[in-house]
Amino acid sequence: MSMRAFALACAGMWLTLASALAGYAVPSARSAAETMDILMWNREPVGGPFELTDQAGKLRTDRDFRGRLMLVYFGFTYCPDVCPTDLQAIGLALDKLGSDADSVQPIFITVDPERDTASHLAEYVPLFHPRLIGLTGSDEAIRKVADAYKVYYARVPLKDAGDYTVDHTAYIYLMDRDGSYLGFFPPGTSADRMVEIIKPRLAAPGR
Ligand code: NI
Repeated sequence: MSMRAFALACAGMWLTLASALAGYAVPSARSAAETMDILMWNREPVGGPFELTDQAGKLRTDRDFRGRLMLVYFGFTYCPDVCPTDLQAIGLALDKLGSDADSVQPIFITVDPERDTASHLAEYVPLFHPRLIGLTGSDEAIRKVADAYKVYYARVPLKDAGDYTVDHTAYIYLMDRDGSYLGFFPPGTSADRMVEIIKPRLAAPGR
């Protein structure tokens, strides 16, 4: 699909803005290895409350999604391959779940809020699934939710002055109907595997 071309076309437009804002992002307090270690060994709670803006410009909180499982993914729209691949798998899993998908809310939270504005997310999330919600917010709000989900992300400058990419961990989080953490799928998990794990969970009573 023309996602890459689309991303590249947009990248030029944003170059000036990106350069003005480069260096402003709130740095991660922990390294990628530290956040992965926490997740792998379940050392700390994962998830928590958030207040962010969706692709329609509407304020959304975690409480809006109570009663549904949440599939939460962090990434950025200019990501050349990992994010689109995982988002495609999430969209496909939703399709494969059929009517059960109504009980699952897929959520994409950007780790690049300067470029991923609500209107930019509005062009991006429907490429993967009509029910995918894209969320953005202030640097501080994004840092807070990423820290809560033990997501590492950091800006990496590119060769072109002012341009950057975002290095990030890419787990797919499965949250229960009450918002509590159930577990994660590693990046690259297939749609079929997600369905296999989600289906029995949907049949189980909520905690
Ligand atoms: Ni990515």
